[in-house]
Order: sequence, then C-alpha cells, then structure tokens
Amino acid sequence: MDNYPKKVALDGGGEVEIRIVGRTDSAALLDFARQLPEEDLLFLRTDITQPDVVEQWIQQIEAGDSLSLAAFDAIGLIGYATVHRNSARWTRKIGEIRVNVGRGYRGKGLGRRLTSEIFDVARGLELRKLTASMTSDQKGAQAAFRRLGFIAEALLADYVDDRNGTPRDLVIMTHDVTGHSDTLDEPVKL
Ligand SMILES: CC(C)(COP(=O)(O)OP(=O)(O)OC[C@H]1O[C@@H](n2cnc3c(N)ncnc32)[C@H](O)[C@@H]1OP(=O)(O)O)[C@@H](O)C(=O)NCCC(=O)NCCS
Repeated sequence: MDNYPKKVALDGGGEVEIRIVGRTDSAALLDFARQLPEEDLLFLRTDITQPDVVEQWIQQIEAGDSLSLAAFDAIGLIGYATVHRNSARWTRKIGEIRVNVGRGYRGKGLGRRLTSEIFDVARGLELRKLTASMTSDQKGAQAAFRRLGFIAEALLADYVDDRNGTPRDLVIMTHDVTGHSDTLDEPVKL
C-alpha cells in the first residue's frame, strides 16, 4: 500500500489523486454521497448519505474486511472503489467490488482506473474472483462493467428493494482476478 497517494491523469486532461480511505475521510464520503442525484441514490446498496452507515463502512475498513480507494480533485472526493471480503469460509476468496464515480467525472476513465487499482489490491489479498452487483435497470453501469471485462453470471429476480421500496432484479457480474476459473462456459444471457 506504499503506492498511495498517487496522482493519475484523466482521459481528456486533468489530474486527480487516489488515496486509501480512512476514518479522516468520513466527512468527504458523506459530502460526496449527499451530492449524488436522486437517480443514483435510488440504487445505492446502502444509504451512505447517513453518518451511521459511513461509520459502519469505516469500521469494516478498520477491521480489514474492506479496502477503499478514493479519488480527489482540488475540491473534494469525486469517486471511490471498494473491495469487500466476505469472511464466510467458502466465499473467503471472493471480493465484492463497488465503484461509484460522481456524474461530473464519468466517461473520463476514472471508473476504469479505480477498478484497475482495486484489482491490484485484490491480487495482493489473494482473492480469486471479484463480483459487482447492480440492478437490471442500471444499463449504463452494466455496459461499463462489460467494457471492464466483467461478465453477467447471475440474475436474481426481485432480490433487492430500491430506496423507494420497489423490488428490483439483481445482476451479479464477475471477473476472475487470477485467470483461473471454473465458471460456466456460457454467461447468463440478460
Ligand atoms: C459504472 C461507473 C463506475 C463507470 O465509471 P466511469 O468513470 O464513467 O467509467 P470510465 O470512464 O472509466 O469507462 C470505463 C469503460 O466503460 C464504458 N462506459 C462507461 N459508462 C458507460 C455507459 N453509460 N454506457 C456504456 N459504456 C460505458 C467506457 O466507454 C469505458 O470503456 P472503454 O475504456 O472501452 O472506452 C459509473 O457510471 C458509476 O459510478 N455509476 C453509478 C454507480 C454504479 O452503478 N456502480 C456499479 C455498481 S458497483
């Protein structure tokens, strides 16, 4: 983790800094979440506009169950990527990745960069596979994750409730970390 903080260039110009998230970033995470438009908030896995939810996130980081990288511009936090390890024995080599880039910074390669950095972290943690979960309505995110090499491996009907309480189908996309896989030959067609 000596690699951070690290300056990275964005597509089309500009530079941002990527840092490892720690307790001192709680306020910046909350600010970021509270600036997200309703449409993005609708699909958040947990409500990170709430201080107690951000506190749980920080505690997971401090416990070593999650590692988050965040990108900052001169004003504040503009996006993050997290890898979360489930400590259950049979999923201990699986990491769940979450990536969120602020609207103003999308399409500039930041999601790709944060994901690639999180892959390096996952390799260091000796994880075998990364999963990314999103609802079937999040077509843009699915397209972006496909471009990043993920495949849709499972579709769970009515599996999650959005912020408004509406049930949504959950798409689980995966990517091998090591190259080895015994996954299905044919990815699930969505
Ligand atoms: C998904 C997300 C992280 C992508 O971040 P981003 O910074 O805009 O992505 P990048 O600019 O690095 O693009 C990565 C690739 O995806 C493609 N892409 C990005 N957004 C896309 C979209 N809406 N539709 C199609 N392709 C898209 C890019 O063209 C790029 O492909 P390329 O490198 O082959 O050109 C961002 O849209 C986001 O934060 N969404 C909301 C949160 C979310 O749904 N996260 C997924 C669940 S974990």
